[in-house]
Amino acid sequence: MSKISTAVIPVAGFGTRFLPVAKSVPKELLPILDRPLLQILVEEIVAAGITKIVFVVSSGKEAIRNHFSPAPALEKKLAASGQQKLLTEIQKISQLADFEFVEQVEMLGDGHAILQAQTKVTDDNFLVVFGDELIFGEPSKELLSVFNAKQSAVVGLQKVAPTELENFGVVAVDSDFAIQKFVEKPKPEEAPSDLAIVGKYIVPQKIFNILKQHPSASGEIRLIDALAILAQTEKVFGKVLTGKRFDCGQAAGWLAANFFAAEADPQIAKALKKN
Ligand code: UTP
Repeated sequence: MSKISTAVIPVAGFGTRFLPVAKSVPKELLPILDRPLLQILVEEIVAAGITKIVFVVSSGKEAIRNHFSPAPALEKKLAASGQQKLLTEIQKISQLADFEFVEQVEMLGDGHAILQAQTKVTDDNFLVVFGDELIFGEPSKELLSVFNAKQSAVVGLQKVAPTELENFGVVAVDSDFAIQKFVEKPKPEEAPSDLAIVGKYIVPQKIFNILKQHPSASGEIRLIDALAILAQTEKVFGKVLTGKRFDCGQAAGWLAANFFAAEADPQIAKALKKN
């Protein structure tokens, strides 16, 4: 049985929906309360058993590497001032997993970003997690449990409202939840279901070859197109993920994620009520 130990997280995009802040601050590091979004994603992935994480970065995203590297001067200061709890918390970040960084020089799509990680992925199958989608829950564990049962590619799904479907890749599934059809950003009347793809996947090594061979008409290389091709020759399963989801790639979704996290944190919720 194939075991999955590696996750690829593409974080190289321009973040145009989150400009101007994304001009100089990686949107993937924006805070959910006091933790960067990306740290929350990494902690969830690691809790699911992943030990190696490959970030696909671009120039201007150096802060991501910094966040997951040791910070000797800061650690020295925290030790000297006796802030042991904070010191431990900061030291833990760089020890969460084996972190690797590859660069995407031209932003030619999420699939092109994933391709840049090929030399770092040695497992037969690997997890892909987009760096700007947050689900409060255990989405990686849920995907892995389907993979362990089926030994086949798995795509994370959630039901969305008809008016929202045109922001997503949408799928049709059979009674066994094998995906029959992928439609990118359909109009509500053209959507094959209300099941949207939510930026979390388990894919086989062969996805790299498909990505290489099939750029879309726009010249972008997109994972959804490669999955549609993969599904012609082998089963690709959908898994409806539980847990509240937020698109943190734009201000409204990111803010909503913060409100959700604030309400779940008794101290912050109390402090907010006072204001
Ligand atoms: P998005 O489409 O949400 O990110 O891609 P984007 O391109 O940064 O966003 P907009 O549309 O311009 O606002 C999902 C994930 O894939 C990464 C992004 O960083 C994000 O985490 N991505 C996207 C890349 O790494 N490279 C790309 O060429 C495109």
